[in-house]
Amino acid sequence: MRNMVKTNANNYLLEVNGLKSWYPIRKGLLRKTVGHVRAVDDVSFAIPRGKTLGLVGESGCGKTTTARTIARLLPASGGKVIFDGMDVLTARDEDLKRLRRQISIIFQDPYGSLNPRMTVGSIVGEPMLVNKVATKRDALGKVAELLERVGLSPTTSTDTLTSSLVVSASASASRGRWPFRRSS
Ligand SMILES: Nc1ncnc2c1ncn2[C@@H]1O[C@H](COP(=O)(O)OP(=O)(O)OP(=O)(O)O)[C@@H](O)[C@H]1O
Ligand SMILES: [Mg+2]
Repeated sequence: MRNMVKTNANNYLLEVNGLKSWYPIRKGLLRKTVGHVRAVDDVSFAIPRGKTLGLVGESGCGKTTTARTIARLLPASGGKVIFDGMDVLTARDEDLKRLRRQISIIFQDPYGSLNPRMTVGSIVGEPMLVNKVATKRDALGKVAELLERVGLSPTTSTDTLTSSLVVSASASASRGRWPFRRSS
């Protein structure tokens, strides 16, 4: 993927400049790097606060690699990413923790991204605990509230949800239990 928009203005929530993300091609017993797949090669764009950017392109052009690199889920091979004033690619520990609370990826494929052995409630609640945005006690209520807002119950197992889109209506939240249990 190559350059899209060039900008020099400040005051963007996200600024990506000259981003590169190359995958090493390894060969042989010692897995020596013999070349690179230049999945993202000099990509620049900026997103003003309150705006949404859709990244569109043919399969394999580097959309996912761009997103994963911005979120520091893949190492960058070059360039700069500034999120809310933070230099993302060089951020360490505390700043990275802050970033993890603010940037997340919602994967397209529910079969690939949801663990069918976990309930929707656990999957939604776990990041709250990991990122310390809620205590176990608070998380229970917050998850229940979120799920209710989108028409789901916290006892719905992802298995049930993704395989048949049948949603269980019973509520382990009302029993005050954590983690939520599978409904089936
Ligand atoms: N782990 C990897 N190792 C080597 N090459 C990879 C790896 N992951 C992706 N690629 C290659 O990098 C390029 C960009 O892939 P990427 O998944 O970012 O594209 P995409 O735009 O998200 O595609 P799609 O629309 O199919 O989701 C492709 O050529 C792909 O084959
Ligand atoms: Mg993709």
